[in-house]
Amino acid sequence: MSRPPGWLHSRAGGTAGTTAWRAVRQGCRRYNFAGGLGHVDSEPLVNIADYARAARRTLAKEVFDYYEGGALDEITLRENSAGWEKLKLYYRVLADVGPRDMSTTVLGQPVSMPILVAPTAFHKLACEEGEVAAAKAARAAETLFVLSSLSNTAMESVFAQAASPRWFQLYIYKDREITRELVKRAEAAGAEAIVLTVDAPGLGTRERDTRNNFRLPDGLAVENLAPLGKGNFPEVKGSGLAAYVRANFKEDLGFDDLDWLCQSTRLPVVVKGVCRGDDARRAAEHGAKAIVVSNHGGRQLDTAPATSEVLPHVVDAAGDICEIYVDGGIRRGSDVLKALAVGARAVLVGRPILWGLCVAGEQGAAHVLEILRRELDEAMLLCGCAKLSDIGRWLLRPSDPLSPISA
Ligand code: FNR
Repeated sequence: MSRPPGWLHSRAGGTAGTTAWRAVRQGCRRYNFAGGLGHVDSEPLVNIADYARAARRTLAKEVFDYYEGGALDEITLRENSAGWEKLKLYYRVLADVGPRDMSTTVLGQPVSMPILVAPTAFHKLACEEGEVAAAKAARAAETLFVLSSLSNTAMESVFAQAASPRWFQLYIYKDREITRELVKRAEAAGAEAIVLTVDAPGLGTRERDTRNNFRLPDGLAVENLAPLGKGNFPEVKGSGLAAYVRANFKEDLGFDDLDWLCQSTRLPVVVKGVCRGDDARRAAEHGAKAIVVSNHGGRQLDTAPATSEVLPHVVDAAGDICEIYVDGGIRRGSDVLKALAVGARAVLVGRPILWGLCVAGEQGAAHVLEILRRELDEAMLLCGCAKLSDIGRWLLRPSDPLSPISA
């Protein structure tokens, strides 16, 4: 794959974002969306893997590697998807399933389906409109958009174009005043919850980024932090993001930080990045209104278990006192159904949205969400479930006293 010359060094001018964005593309591919089916250069985009392949052909290697890569040997990254694949669905027949209803709520806010947009950094590496395109795609799908702290677009601009529900993801900075300022700005900009990411007191080593000297091209910044003097990566060899995290994120995170956050905001707090039932329960007892079972898409501690393995423990430990969501490796509607069967209220997707943005901006991300919606609908029909409350652990066992059929 050829690398566009100087993608790291494009000159920022009046159209800084545009210039930087063009610099990370491999060339223009023609996307069209006819009859509800996406095509790129007349190749059909039928599923998430098609979008991933098309994104790989579209992006400079450094950017694709940043989006796709995981920590160290990428074992957790692979196992996240494999974990959902391994679970088998003991579907029910002759269940008289009519039209499916997949609407639900997250922290009391209605969403049209239990598939939510995870916070991911640096969307302007994927498309010119960046986070605004992702927020609009979530709005079109009537689902939740979570904006990363590390966005290339300021939260005020993104939330102005996002519909409810819209949540803000927070990292705790070493400088408490910076963290406080982010929370206050998120509240003022219309965020309806704060998602505190707790699995990144430091950055898991992503060796692809080390080799590629990953950094943001000139013209792109960590926009939320720019007014606070933390908008740029330090100049280092290796991963600029790793150096940024080392310099700025609070390493000695504790439950006292969660207490501080719950006391500092009027918004509900969601804790993201939990891998154990006991931590989930404790977080809920310290004020978290929801937990995201997540290993950051395999990007932090390598050999952490797949989220499909963790989820039942967290549901059993804390599902009675807070909402539980899960992310990591969800690539099919049947994966969503399995997560719900184990006990999650909803799932989040990270990379699939990025692939959609890379291929066709807002339209691509919206299509990715519609693919997952259609696949979930099909899985519900074939499993004998008309509504989300019909989905349960009985689906994962050949017979079960809690199966609706024996109820
Ligand atoms: C992430 N993730 C993430 N999480 C977070 O809390 N804040 C962030 O800024 C980011 N940034 C980020 C960038 C990229 C490129 C990726 C792939 C992921 C983790 C994200 O929220 C989510 O946990 C995973 O992406 C879920 O796994 P899948 O769906 O990507 O397999």
